[in-house]
Amino acid sequence: MVATALTTAPALAEDVEVLHWWTSGGEAAALNVLKGDLETQGIGWQDMPVAGGGGEAAMTVLRARVTSGNAPTAVQMLGFDILDWADQGALADLNSVAAEQGWDAVVPEALQAFAKVDGKWVSAPVNVHSTNWVWANKAVLDSNGIAVPTTWDEFAAAVDALSAAGVTPIAHGGQAWQDATVFDAVAMGALGPDGYKAAFIDLDEDALGGDAMKTAFERMEFIRANVDENFSGRDWNLATAMVINGEAGFQMMGDWAKGEFLSAGKTPGDDFLCFRFPGTENQVTFNADQFAMFDQGGTVSAEQAALASAILSPSFQSAFNVVKGSVPARTDVSDADFDACGKQGMKDLAAAAASGNLFGSMAHGHANPASIKNAMYDVITAHFNGEYDAETAVSELVDAVSIAK
Ligand code: GAL
Repeated sequence: MVATALTTAPALAEDVEVLHWWTSGGEAAALNVLKGDLETQGIGWQDMPVAGGGGEAAMTVLRARVTSGNAPTAVQMLGFDILDWADQGALADLNSVAAEQGWDAVVPEALQAFAKVDGKWVSAPVNVHSTNWVWANKAVLDSNGIAVPTTWDEFAAAVDALSAAGVTPIAHGGQAWQDATVFDAVAMGALGPDGYKAAFIDLDEDALGGDAMKTAFERMEFIRANVDENFSGRDWNLATAMVINGEAGFQMMGDWAKGEFLSAGKTPGDDFLCFRFPGTENQVTFNADQFAMFDQGGTVSAEQAALASAILSPSFQSAFNVVKGSVPARTDVSDADFDACGKQGMKDLAAAAASGNLFGSMAHGHANPASIKNAMYDVITAHFNGEYDAETAVSELVDAVSIAK
């Protein structure tokens, strides 16, 4: 896209075409906050939605667009995918915007690791999500005498109680990225923070193949036994709807699930509960959505700079993340407008970063490049669908990672 020379408003002559996968009710509501913000600045929006939670389908479309020489202006992207496109020289340099707004001082280090390459800002972080959350229907828990579980055993007892009462204990969508999202939390609980880091970030064979990993897979079997029979292929937001409607007790999902509760008019504490997956209360596995700007011919365009600058503005970071379910990608945004879950999310993130318990999510592309992530997905999903037992899954995981490395 080449900026046309105009006599009036020359800076923002072009629309921005934004490729993203925010198509659920809660996600669309959050996206509208961004669209509205840009509108007030005279930036036009050309929507390029590619449905599919977790963004795999969006990344496939992106590759096709880039290959045909027609990259979108801006692309929602996660973790290692950003680094990969930056290495290929595909992303515009955002340093001028970053310097103007002082991003270095306010964006957490853990995010800079995926937004800056060789001293160059290549993407604009819009949020921080985390994956080790459980979402619960409060009335369902109350009517079955269930308190918020804080250990795996308490969680398992709560699941058994719901099952005995004829309620679907766990709402789940059988898609590889959702299986992996649940596994993220279950593995963190079983391995602990050091084990999680060793296995999923350092790819240490002893950790990948150890007893704790076997425990994680065994726990996945318990979860598999407590989802409804129609789980296969279900979209994540439809699983969230089961908890919202009281058809199911729990969903293990990242905090984008909160966006669905909010867009259904539900209130945390009254209608639904959010809590960390039992045994992971002091850890955070994060994924941060960012917008990478594709190089449109040398320098960042005026529209791209305006989009990046709008995304990082503190007021936008608050307004957007309040709706999305995530927390701000800046450390200096007040939590005043956030609900109880959002306030807890912000507190947890800061505490985890300070205590060395903040880790990139394996399931959402922040622990390893896509090739390794996908190798892990295959094993987690095959095991979840009963192709092999926990012991075999552990050795399959070790093998799959060593081949993908
Ligand atoms: C994640 C993304 C979130 C959320 C989710 C489900 O990968 O970071 O923003 O949209 O997928 O689509």
